[in-house]
Amino acid sequence: MSFQAPKGVQEYVPPRSSLFAQAREAFTESARRACYAPVETAVFEDTSLFVRGVGESSDVVSKEMYTFDTRGGENVTLRPEFTAGVVRAVLQYNLHKGHLPVKVCTSGPAFRYERPQAGRYRQFYQFDLEAIGTEDPTVDAETIAVAYDAYRSLGLTQFTLLLNSLGDQNCRPVYRAALQDFLRKLDLDEDTRARIEINPLRVLDDKRPEVREQTASAPCIVDYLCGDCKAHHDTVRALLSSLDIPFEDAPRLVRGLDYYMRTTYEFDHALLGAQSGIGGGGRYDGLSEDIGGPPLPGIGFAVGLDRIVLAIESERGADAAQAVAGCQVFGVALGEDAHTDVLTLVTALRRAGVRADMAFGRRGLKGAMKAADRSGARFAVLIGAEEKRNATVAIKDLKDGDQQDVAASSAVEWLVNTLAGNGEAE
Ligand code: HAM
Repeated sequence: MSFQAPKGVQEYVPPRSSLFAQAREAFTESARRACYAPVETAVFEDTSLFVRGVGESSDVVSKEMYTFDTRGGENVTLRPEFTAGVVRAVLQYNLHKGHLPVKVCTSGPAFRYERPQAGRYRQFYQFDLEAIGTEDPTVDAETIAVAYDAYRSLGLTQFTLLLNSLGDQNCRPVYRAALQDFLRKLDLDEDTRARIEINPLRVLDDKRPEVREQTASAPCIVDYLCGDCKAHHDTVRALLSSLDIPFEDAPRLVRGLDYYMRTTYEFDHALLGAQSGIGGGGRYDGLSEDIGGPPLPGIGFAVGLDRIVLAIESERGADAAQAVAGCQVFGVALGEDAHTDVLTLVTALRRAGVRADMAFGRRGLKGAMKAADRSGARFAVLIGAEEKRNATVAIKDLKDGDQQDVAASSAVEWLVNTLAGNGEAE
């Protein structure tokens, strides 16, 4: 019997792993440009951090956590999301006593015991970004812009930004009561009736048609926002418009975690089917206090890197990984003493920004050319006794089979220019 990764654990191996790395890099770079500093935080935390931070009534906490006792008797949980841990770290290291807002980002695996399916895993990967310590709606728009620009830099276009406000501790209770009144009159199953009492907003998120139909005319939070929340929401909407970031008002958008208030948003991809959420976030102005800290309003988002890989593949097609990281030039040594020349040339190409590889070991010409083909490279560069004598290299275009000799001294320049001319350079 051979071992397999546990059920629902998402792993990345070549060639897809290049797309994964590209997705993470796009978000890291977008965040770096907006001056978010990288942080690395605990992969597991005291269970009560998530119970108090993410909220007992959320599915994530009540049904999906990987919780266990350690040998030392502590009860810990693998992070189901990053926000609670990041806020915990901000408080622990007193970052909130310095310049505000604290702007940080991170990425890595998160764990939820969900039913695995396409785009939904038990170990999945998030990029997470948080701006902690200001109520300014400008930072709400900034976080959205960082995410939006990262999706666009990956070439994605088939996604929609859904925007809502969930109100605050003043107006949400009034809305909650009105919604409960409405929901209690409907014909719903026992579980859903119980949910009305614990977390009525989640009932609006129920995907079953028989529930959808009944909740279609439910009261909307936007009609209940207090003056401050409405002004905040209007400012965020106006800011997004000035940044040319298209969005849809989504008055029924309810997020799955309990800490949200005011601004909430999700990015939805059109080609991904049931698991179409490629990112989501919002304000969590009460979270710091929930976990024992001072009042510290915050906002952030997390994107599902796994789903972004799926989105890239659905928009760019099957060759997506090869185009990102595939080898461009493959060196072949004809005979033992050409290895030094090939490695020297390949190294020079790499230093010039070209992705280059070479045949290793004692393969014959046939085996080496097979490896060149398999590498996906556009050009093979061959060096043997004759080329060495003439101070040339033979360059074979692997697309059309043409071969020509080029002076060894200008081979790097020739390849760089030709790849650039073909639009294949970095
Ligand atoms: P979330 O909506 O639970 O928010 O997760 C964010 C993203 O992670 C989702 O949009 C989705 O792309 C991805 N994701 C979630 N669960 C899975 C899964 N089982 N398999 C694959 N991908 C998944 C949060 O986690 C919040 N902490 C975001 C946030 C940060 N809010 C404020 N700051």
